Amino acid sequence: MQRHGIPTARSTVAENFDAAIKALALFPLPVVVKADGLAAGKGVVVARTGEEAEQAVDEFMRRKTLGAAGERVVIEDCLAGEELSFIVLTDGRGILPLVPTQDHKALLDGDLGPNTGGMGAYSDDAILSEPLHDEILRSIVAPTLAGMEMEGAPYKGFLYFGLMLTQTGPMLLEYNVRMGDPETQPILMRLRSDLVDLLMAQRQGQLAAVDAHWTPNPAVCVVLASQGYPGKPEVGKVVTGYDAAEALGGVKVFHAGTRVEDHHLLTAGGRVLGVTAIAEDLPSAIQRAYAGVSKFQFEGMQYRKDIGAKALRRLANAPAPKRSRASKGERPSARK
Ligand code: GLY
Repeated sequence: MQRHGIPTARSTVAENFDAAIKALALFPLPVVVKADGLAAGKGVVVARTGEEAEQAVDEFMRRKTLGAAGERVVIEDCLAGEELSFIVLTDGRGILPLVPTQDHKALLDGDLGPNTGGMGAYSDDAILSEPLHDEILRSIVAPTLAGMEMEGAPYKGFLYFGLMLTQTGPMLLEYNVRMGDPETQPILMRLRSDLVDLLMAQRQGQLAAVDAHWTPNPAVCVVLASQGYPGKPEVGKVVTGYDAAEALGGVKVFHAGTRVEDHHLLTAGGRVLGVTAIAEDLPSAIQRAYAGVSKFQFEGMQYRKDIGAKALRRLANAPAPKRSRASKGERPSARK
């Protein structure tokens, strides 16, 4: 990001415990401590006090709670704003942005508790104005792809940009070389084109010639998680309610950590199911998703009760300006 001038938080990398503690002194609170390896979404701590920051460094680097993933840490400024997951499909020439989504990474309502892989997500065009959409493509997506090509590693496939929409513009928090979970669930609920056609066009380098069609209707996914998640989840619990939830109109349940044994659906991981709903507006999609959730039961089931609530507050306070490219019916996503 730094090499290619992509807006991101000021940061430093520490290779050992002493260097990390020293570096912490250079950053104001709150400060972000990140394990510099893959940690299933659990390697980021937003520390509000010096003690919390030192404790995170201690856990990652000395107690090795994340194994090798925590051997190096990134310490960076904490950015304030709304998070946005912006995912594109690219064949190296054409860029097909998927509809925008917002994840809910904290375990508990009100964005409290530890970070997780994601406890729910919604997709609604009102999250992102047209100018902001274009700014993200211009200042973050295009320089990333150009930079990778310039460095001899041209990128093809899904690329996920984890963004913070700050008062001074969109800033990049992270990349994932995949779609997002649970962002993919509401995105696919809104896709009206055939996903296979898009993937084939990407594979054949023809992405610039295709349009993806999306319904303007928002979609919401609520994750049902096991007790103990994001630490050590308790698994092997019988799950009931699947058929009743799927019988509700506009509801689709996506499996995550599940397995079937003796004709019973059992929990088999931290995040168990993604109950996803689509409706003509966001309040109805939220209501529908939670109607689906209410059908489920398993021992220790936990989920957030406020997926999409921030968006509702934002809409109530300042209705988003109508986007020129959002039509009343289905619309193609922008291509560059
Ligand atoms: N939900 C965040 C991710 O997929 O990385």
